[in-house]
Amino acid sequence: MARKDREQNRRSWNAATVAHNSHKRDQASFLKRAGTLFPEELGLLGPLRGKTLLHLQCNSGQDTLSLARRGARVTGVDISDEAITFAQALSCDSRIPGRFVRADVYDYLTAKRPTFDVVFCSYGVTGWLEDLDRWAQGIARRLRRGGRFVYVEFHPVVFTFDECGRPAFPYSTHGAPLRGPGVTDYVQASGPALAPSGYVAGVRDFTNPHGAVEFAWGLSEIVQAVIDAGLHVDHLEEYPWSNGFAPFEGMRRRGARYFPAPGQPQVPLMFSLRAVKR
Ligand SMILES: C[S@@+](CC[C@H](N)C(=O)[O-])C[C@H]1O[C@@H](n2cnc3c(N)ncnc32)[C@H](O)[C@@H]1O
Repeated sequence: MARKDREQNRRSWNAATVAHNSHKRDQASFLKRAGTLFPEELGLLGPLRGKTLLHLQCNSGQDTLSLARRGARVTGVDISDEAITFAQALSCDSRIPGRFVRADVYDYLTAKRPTFDVVFCSYGVTGWLEDLDRWAQGIARRLRRGGRFVYVEFHPVVFTFDECGRPAFPYSTHGAPLRGPGVTDYVQASGPALAPSGYVAGVRDFTNPHGAVEFAWGLSEIVQAVIDAGLHVDHLEEYPWSNGFAPFEGMRRRGARYFPAPGQPQVPLMFSLRAVKR
């Protein structure tokens, strides 16, 4: 993938991030009293007090600051200018300390220092990455010895179906790019499940003027890249629900979790992975 494709994704995320945040009521006040993290990542992350934590592809920093609320010293990295500017303002307004860096993940992971106790990323990550080996090697480089990598993600099999649950797309393109219409206003589509501070109408009828370049990676390709980077995988789990995001129309919602309705694909909808640098 050429850098110009990643720059296109940067523009696409800049535009979509404005729309996404427009639907979320007073996020600073919300973060002062609660967090945005789900039980799956909290369980895998364990106690965070005093730990240094790198959050890759952190978008507008809501999860990053939620990790900081738990005592971690956080650094969030994202390619989107809009997301990082928003995250920095959210940190100021909520008075929750966090460091936010606007960078391409591949550039950031090239450097050896600083190293972190924990590297974390979640929900919508590898679909933007053209080289999983370089990504996983960079994560291994940025972990201190004994440090943990925690990753919670929508299951790749979900994206083989269209919104009606019909088989429609390849499971993996093995690194070949998929050029599409751009990042959508999926916060509007999900509603309150993705707006824990309260949902407001915000931007209406969002159409992204910038297309996007994505990738479909299979589960074994992701896990193998982590193993090949020398990290010891000690946890891999698949879940029959999806946090905050309904891939199919008419799914059943319980809290922020979506479950397939009868007749919809009964497949794993998320997975989680934890790996240790020995
Ligand atoms: C679905 S969002 C992840 C949201 C995240 N789970 C959170 O905490 O809100 C994907 C993010 O990846 C970022 N991204 C895409 N390509 C990137 C790259 N090459 N380097 C860094 N960030 C990238 C986008 O800007 C976007 O914020």
